[in-house]
Amino acid sequence: MPKDVKRLGRLTVPGLNIQLTIRFRPIDETLSAKLEGETMDLGLQGKVAIVTGSSDGIGYATALALAREGTHTVICGRREPLLAEARDRIARETGSELLAVPCDVQRLADVQRLVRETMERFGAIHILVNNAGSVPTMQFTETDDAQWHEMLEGKLLSYIRVTREVVPHMRKTGWGRVINIAGGGGRQPTATGMAVGVNNAAVINWTKSLSLQYAADGILVTAVAPGKIDTPRQIRNRVREAEIRAMTLDILQEEGVRDIPLKRVGRPEEVASLVVFLASECSSYMTGACVAVDGGATRGI
Ligand SMILES: NC(=O)c1ccc[n+]([C@@H]2O[C@H](COP(=O)([O-])OP(=O)(O)OC[C@H]3O[C@@H](n4cnc5c(N)ncnc54)[C@H](OP(=O)(O)O)[C@@H]3O)[C@@H](O)[C@H]2O)c1
Repeated sequence: MPKDVKRLGRLTVPGLNIQLTIRFRPIDETLSAKLEGETMDLGLQGKVAIVTGSSDGIGYATALALAREGTHTVICGRREPLLAEARDRIARETGSELLAVPCDVQRLADVQRLVRETMERFGAIHILVNNAGSVPTMQFTETDDAQWHEMLEGKLLSYIRVTREVVPHMRKTGWGRVINIAGGGGRQPTATGMAVGVNNAAVINWTKSLSLQYAADGILVTAVAPGKIDTPRQIRNRVREAEIRAMTLDILQEEGVRDIPLKRVGRPEEVASLVVFLASECSSYMTGACVAVDGGATRGI
């Protein structure tokens, strides 16, 4: 029995010839105090967070929201001017200490540099938000094996690569949060979003697996599945889908929100708010879960 697990007592179940031994692992006192406190202190002040793909869209909104909560935030992206602009804007708005590392998450050397520079600057990594991923829409019969490999590289394999480099640092501190930005298509496939759906389904499955593997190290792993969120990617995808389906953008847009119970697309900040909670000390009993932020669009339960 692990050292911190206490034996509470034995319970005899009437009518059954069995005895249960009740054991529990007490939560630490700081956490107890936090949970019983009157206000919700997220406990993010001074934590170090890497957000991949954070010069734009959901990643940018997440980096900004984390910086507002006092994290030392590390942002990355491939286009350096956009990245520098994002760093300056977040720093101006939050006054927080920020590091911007040009990085393509599809390249191992870049990812290793991202982690090395983060450790050199801040000495720890507590939070990783895997967000950078780009998977094009495609026509099934026109896509060969090499393109399928590229599509998995576009999201799943990049998430795995970054996480593999970061997790050893989290294990050393015994505290970590990994949040994987998946997508609604991982659970509710669509005809046109096949490749992204396959990636997101794999990300959700892998999230669960990772959460089981690292629970004992204090690393909680969760996924967030955004629905339609207004970002530059969403606009690009809409234009491409309109082309494939030979429709006007207006009609596609109308059709796009028809099935969303809240009748609108979401904002990047609405995804960021959930990520901030999942990254925080307040999220202390959630791991392996995938939470949708989709205006109610996913019909499954
Ligand atoms: N928007 C939606 O409706 C929606 C819905 C479901 C799921 N998602 C998921 O949410 C995540 C973010 O999507 P988004 O819509 O916010 O995307 P976005 O608007 O295209 O922004 C993507 C950000 O990631 C960076 N990036 C892209 N590829 C990268 C790479 N290989 N290495 C490093 N940085 C990279 C981009 O900068 P550079 O191009 O300069 O690198 C940019 O900063 C994705 O995983 C996506 O699948 C989005």
